[in-house]
Amino acid sequence: MWRIVNVVGTRPNFMKVAPLWQEYRRHPDRIAPVLVHTGQHYDDNMSARFFAQLELPTPDAYLHIGSGSHAQQTARILLALERYLTEQRPDLVVVFGDGNSTMAAALTAAQLHIPVAHVEAGLRSFDRTMPEEINRILTDALSDYLFTSCADATANLRREGVPVEKIHFVGNVMIDSLRRLQAASPAGPPGLYGVVTLHRPGNVDAQPVLAEILSALQVIQKELPLIFPVHPRTAGRLREFGFWNELQQWPGLKLVEPLGYLDAIGLLSRATVVLTDSGGVQEETTALGVPCLTIRENTERPVTVTEGTNTLVGTGHAQIVAECRKVLAGHGKRGRLPQLWDGHAAERIVQCLLDHPPKK
Ligand code: UD1
Repeated sequence: MWRIVNVVGTRPNFMKVAPLWQEYRRHPDRIAPVLVHTGQHYDDNMSARFFAQLELPTPDAYLHIGSGSHAQQTARILLALERYLTEQRPDLVVVFGDGNSTMAAALTAAQLHIPVAHVEAGLRSFDRTMPEEINRILTDALSDYLFTSCADATANLRREGVPVEKIHFVGNVMIDSLRRLQAASPAGPPGLYGVVTLHRPGNVDAQPVLAEILSALQVIQKELPLIFPVHPRTAGRLREFGFWNELQQWPGLKLVEPLGYLDAIGLLSRATVVLTDSGGVQEETTALGVPCLTIRENTERPVTVTEGTNTLVGTGHAQIVAECRKVLAGHGKRGRLPQLWDGHAAERIVQCLLDHPPKK
């Protein structure tokens, strides 16, 4: 029997662990899964609501990390998790995505000689000003099982010299959750609308960058009603920079609290266009066939551009508006599903673990 500790901390991790959890439970004779929540995301609408909708159990351990600088979050996780993993001595630690919780958990486990599996390995934006890029590189360097969601991620790892036997191309677990819960999602509002999400530090923490993006949204909301679920980081900055009250006056823009998973999927799936800087939303719109304009200069998910519905539009006013108008004129990308984004990635991960058990 293997004890597998799964460490999650931020909102996108919850959609990624959920399908694995379902699969683990199909092998109760071989796998004893444990769920650890670092507490990096702690608001009900960033965390607990997702556990309920994704049918995840109450975590076996909750580390109360909370918000803070990178150093503060990382240090708190190292301390708390070292204690926990030293006591528990699991056979494997599984981490997801690219947050501080992911990287800190991988480092703690590796230092304790506990094998590490990274779900969503190999993604690269080649932009080290993004905290997530540094977390991705470090997590992959520390991992024993690297589960990739697309062929370019496998190629990135091979280029970095990761031995081929550590890399397993399994597909995208985020799409497993989407496919399982899509039918249960509520309908979006009637009529045409667009959806906006923004939270990348590079976009929202710098006043001039945020002002430029908002100036594009101001034009677009006159042509298409926009719904903008506001991430807590972004809400903080909008208030700090004095934009919050002005945005309330725009008739075509509706600011709402962060949505639960089912509401988010329902809203995205019926949107005319989605403007975002989120990694997960780039993938979900590709799976849903909804045109996505990514408000960034690069993406670690290029398959959503080459095969999916995604277009990189940068952070400049003119291009954001022009690309949005193209979609409104009926020229949005249709795209196709990338390889193995078929709702069965978690099955392949668990099968791989059963075929290649962690060394005791
Ligand atoms: C983190 C991840 C990012 C991921 C995102 C999804 C890192 C480095 N980044 O960014 O990759 O895409 O989660 O949301 O790990 N806050 C709350 N309530 C919460 C959590 C946060 O109000 O439940 C506020 C706090 O003011 C905090 C800010 O949001 O300072 C940002 O949270 P933080 O944990 O630093 O990272 P995210 O920006 O959410």
